[in-house]
Amino acid sequence: MPHKKQVYVTGHKGLVGSALVRALSGNPDVEVITRTRQELDLLNQGAVHQFFSRYAIDIVIHAAGKVGGIVANQSAQADFLYENLLVASNVIGAAAKNSVGKLLYLGSSCVYPKLAPQPIREESLLSSALESTNEGYAVAKIAGLKLCEMFRLQYGKDFFAAMPTNLYGPGDNFHPTSSHVIPGMMRRFHEAKIKGGKSVIIWGTGSPLREFLHVDDLARACILILNSDQYDKKLINIGSGEELSILELALLMQQVVGFKGQVLADPSRPDGTPRKRLDTSRLLALGFKPQISLREGLAKTYAWALAHQVFEPPRRNEPTIIAHA
Ligand SMILES: NC(=O)c1ccc[n+]([C@@H]2O[C@H](COP(=O)([O-])OP(=O)(O)OC[C@H]3O[C@@H](n4cnc5c(N)ncnc54)[C@H](OP(=O)(O)O)[C@@H]3O)[C@@H](O)[C@H]2O)c1
Repeated sequence: MPHKKQVYVTGHKGLVGSALVRALSGNPDVEVITRTRQELDLLNQGAVHQFFSRYAIDIVIHAAGKVGGIVANQSAQADFLYENLLVASNVIGAAAKNSVGKLLYLGSSCVYPKLAPQPIREESLLSSALESTNEGYAVAKIAGLKLCEMFRLQYGKDFFAAMPTNLYGPGDNFHPTSSHVIPGMMRRFHEAKIKGGKSVIIWGTGSPLREFLHVDDLARACILILNSDQYDKKLINIGSGEELSILELALLMQQVVGFKGQVLADPSRPDGTPRKRLDTSRLLALGFKPQISLREGLAKTYAWALAHQVFEPPRRNEPTIIAHA
């Protein structure tokens, strides 16, 4: 019988990992390997090395890590730095020692410099100062992607890294304080609808521009990168190439959720970075095309959120939205 490729997806219970498992599980030539945190804590170096030595893993897609929105990042910088550093070095180090064929590491658009020219090219990495609110997370993520690059340069390992834009979709984190902009905003609109609220207020002017990608499109892009003969293993951005303002996003969300009240902006609140979009020329040259429009993706995500009761129990007295992504 031909050997099935053993693909280990770390963080398979998360937003990205679960999408990767969905995308890979239809492939008859692939056997997907997963471990929960309880089965294998990636902070535990000994356990990670033992796991890799026991299984003949062909490919690793590293999607595990400590991830959160601006509030969570800002208030726990040490935890974000320490945990992401350990998890990345344990997984990448064990993969290198145990002859894993390929490793795709997921970086993030959040780790580019605060004032990187727009749209952000891969060359912008480390070209100027980071955003201070998520510096811990960014330093750890950059160390991980540099570790891949250096194992490639020093030992010829086929390890490389992708930089996804803001992602959303089924399996996202809808927590009231630690969520990213789309699930956070979806929660606020849903709660306003359920409570019969008259308005939803977004922070700032609503003018900052943001880019979003459905996580199933991200998974397609990762598989394309892993299989492409033309990919040169340099850092590669993954985005939709489309941007919209926070106000446009809020109006789209209002329609998707079916909230009948008003959407108001509060310009006394901070706006955040005026524009954040990735240059995806490298990915487009490999033939990538996103398949899920933002409207369709939001509708599917809302249906998933309702089916999984992620908004329960509803909260009171928090009418605003944080307008950062
Ligand atoms: N979400 C985005 O918008 C976005 C954008 C760009 C890049 N990314 C990158 O994509 C990757 C995944 O993000 P995500 O949004 O999917 O995060 P997520 O939903 O929070 O999932 C992270 C997963 O990692 C697991 N994990 C964390 N620490 C672990 C440990 N010590 N041992 C074992 N498992 C551990 C978590 O397990 P538990 O379920 O047990 O907590 C969870 O399943 C991250 O590297 C992130 O930087 C995400």
